[in-house]
Amino acid sequence: MTGRVLIVDDENAMRLALKALLGKEGYEVETAASGEEAIGRIQPGSFHLIITDLSMRGVTGMQVLEHARRVDTDCAVIMITAYGSEKIAVQAMKLGAVDYLPKPFDNDEVRVVVRRVMETGQLRREHRRLLEQVQGDFGFEHIVGRSPAMGHMFDTIAKVADTDITVLIRGESGTGKELVANALHYRSPRRGKAMVKMNCAALSRELVESELFGHERGAFTGAVTRREGKFEAADGGTLFLDEVGDMPLETQAKFLRALQEREIERVGGNQSLKVDVRVLAATNQDLEGAVRAGRFREDLYYRLRVVELAIPPLAERREDIPLLIDRFLRHAAERFNRPIKTLTPAAMRACVEHEWKGNVRELRSAVEQALLLAPGAEIEVGDLPHVAPAATRLAAQAAAPGAGTAANASTVSFRDAKAAVVESFERDFLVTALRRHAGNISKAAEEIGMYRQNLQQKLRELGISAEEIGTADE
Ligand SMILES: Nc1ncnc2c1ncn2[C@@H]1O[C@H](COP(=O)(O)OP(=O)(O)OP(=O)(O)O)[C@@H](O)[C@H]1O
Ligand SMILES: [Mg+2]
Repeated sequence: MTGRVLIVDDENAMRLALKALLGKEGYEVETAASGEEAIGRIQPGSFHLIITDLSMRGVTGMQVLEHARRVDTDCAVIMITAYGSEKIAVQAMKLGAVDYLPKPFDNDEVRVVVRRVMETGQLRREHRRLLEQVQGDFGFEHIVGRSPAMGHMFDTIAKVADTDITVLIRGESGTGKELVANALHYRSPRRGKAMVKMNCAALSRELVESELFGHERGAFTGAVTRREGKFEAADGGTLFLDEVGDMPLETQAKFLRALQEREIERVGGNQSLKVDVRVLAATNQDLEGAVRAGRFREDLYYRLRVVELAIPPLAERREDIPLLIDRFLRHAAERFNRPIKTLTPAAMRACVEHEWKGNVRELRSAVEQALLLAPGAEIEVGDLPHVAPAATRLAAQAAAPGAGTAANASTVSFRDAKAAVVESFERDFLVTALRRHAGNISKAAEEIGMYRQNLQQKLRELGISAEEIGTADE
């Protein structure tokens, strides 16, 4: 077992005995001989667990408990109480203690209680992180914006989210189309079922169709087993088709039929399957142009854009930029466990004036990068390499050829590194959860508080086979 524990007791013998016992279990144990000393040591994140005696001279266990709850809500507190003082124990639990140990207790009791508390805490932290990262910025609250254009969008989202209406989400790259799709799904009665995503770009017709509708064994070369398509996977839930403008023309007819009839046929199959799926689609293309050019079916175009949500480019709603910066700074500080920073007025002005060709996504990575890399407590214009006014940038480039490209390269590698860290964390977390349940997806999903379908989708994305995990452990 791992974890940092603080033992607070003014009785020497008790402190040492607990330290020896828990140290042997593998915890990192520190001790404090008084409540005052303990309070001086409790900082956010410094301990996972505090075991404190209730009655001490000076600052009492109750005060230590209150202080710990205020400073670090993640830190669990166990109260040691005297024999027969259940009333006080109850009061301690009301104030947020996770458990109490009535004296006299034996070693086994301590081991069991501590282990349970630590496991729960660890699970809760992992769960929270996973939710943040897997579900990311789902929900409505996470879409930032107070410009009239965004206000109008929120209204429309609120009006159509709880219907089965097909929504076409339009906007340049990085404007938040996926975020809006998530909000629509998570605010719909389908939120308990899967949100299945599919990107139509750069896939051959054969692949798009087998992805969408699944295929029977032997449907085409390489189709060695039967495969479920995204439509089936999204049954009861939502199917989000990204880059819908890239769907091959031949596939569009089949897709339209699936939308209208609410049934599909697997590739190479001859029986129709009923599906109950709400479709959301996104594109950053000129679909009207594609219709005129004969690359996109007009009937499908009208069928998709029953409701259209157009997200304006960031440069057309600059009043949202400071809000977004604030959100991303807070979020990144928490996620990377770094102190929060602010922008100097000049840096803020430069951000508000910048063109942001990559829209919100570009803004987000610039801000996150600056939070991590800026040397001071304030982020200056120079810490935002893409944002520095063109003149400064050109001058810098003239002075040091290649400087501009170096800045670009560092953004890319930072983003890749971050994605890799997140992915490996997710992988470890999910594999461990599956092992605990011998590969049983439903049970693992229940434990970590995810919907089974979402977990399944996540496993597919990460290429994790629950079956293999189940059998490997036997
Ligand atoms: N209004 C917003 N509030 C908060 N975060 C936002 C907002 N808009 C976009 N983002 C963030 O910007 C990033 C890009 O958003 P998203 O992936 O939804 O864009 P997209 O339009 O789907 O982009 P692409 O066309 O490149 O796929 C994400 O990290 C998202 O969380
Ligand atoms: Mg997208």
